[in-house]
Amino acid sequence: MRWLGVMALALLASANLAWADDAGEAVFRGNCIACHSLTAGINRVGPSLAAVVGRPAGSISGYAYSAAMANSGITWTEDRLDAFLSAPQAVVPGTKMTFMGLRSPDRRAALIAYLKSR
Ligand code: HEC
Repeated sequence: MRWLGVMALALLASANLAWADDAGEAVFRGNCIACHSLTAGINRVGPSLAAVVGRPAGSISGYAYSAAMANSGITWTEDRLDAFLSAPQAVVPGTKMTFMGLRSPDRRAALIAYLKSR
């Protein structure tokens, strides 16, 4: 009956991934979508966040970044995103992103996983 256990584990793992993606999407819809699209080339109040994980800060051409963001020298690794999203003004002093930050590490992790898939 070992296969039953294996199947149960596989089911649990996929349910867990689906949960993380749904949770991340909910966080995005609740906190980011008013200012950001996930479509390349569509900038709103903030720049498009399509494929943001891994790209250098301030690198979307045609978007008018603050000098603070343009000169931050940051690359948006998962760690840097996590820090920025917990306290944007602390990580990039002078950024024009007027967002208080997400307190919950779990919600930030779900959001970053979601962004990584976009
Ligand atoms: C009130 C509007 C607003 C909200 C809400 C907002 N942002 Fe922003 N965001 C901006 C603006 C404006 C910038 C450009 C900042 C600058 O140039 O200083 C920005 C920049 C960014 C950047 C840097 C992008 C780059 O190309 O370097 C990231 C990453 C980011 N936002 C993620 C998020 C995420 C994730 C959320 C939701 C948790 C969010 N933002 C919520 C307005 C917003």
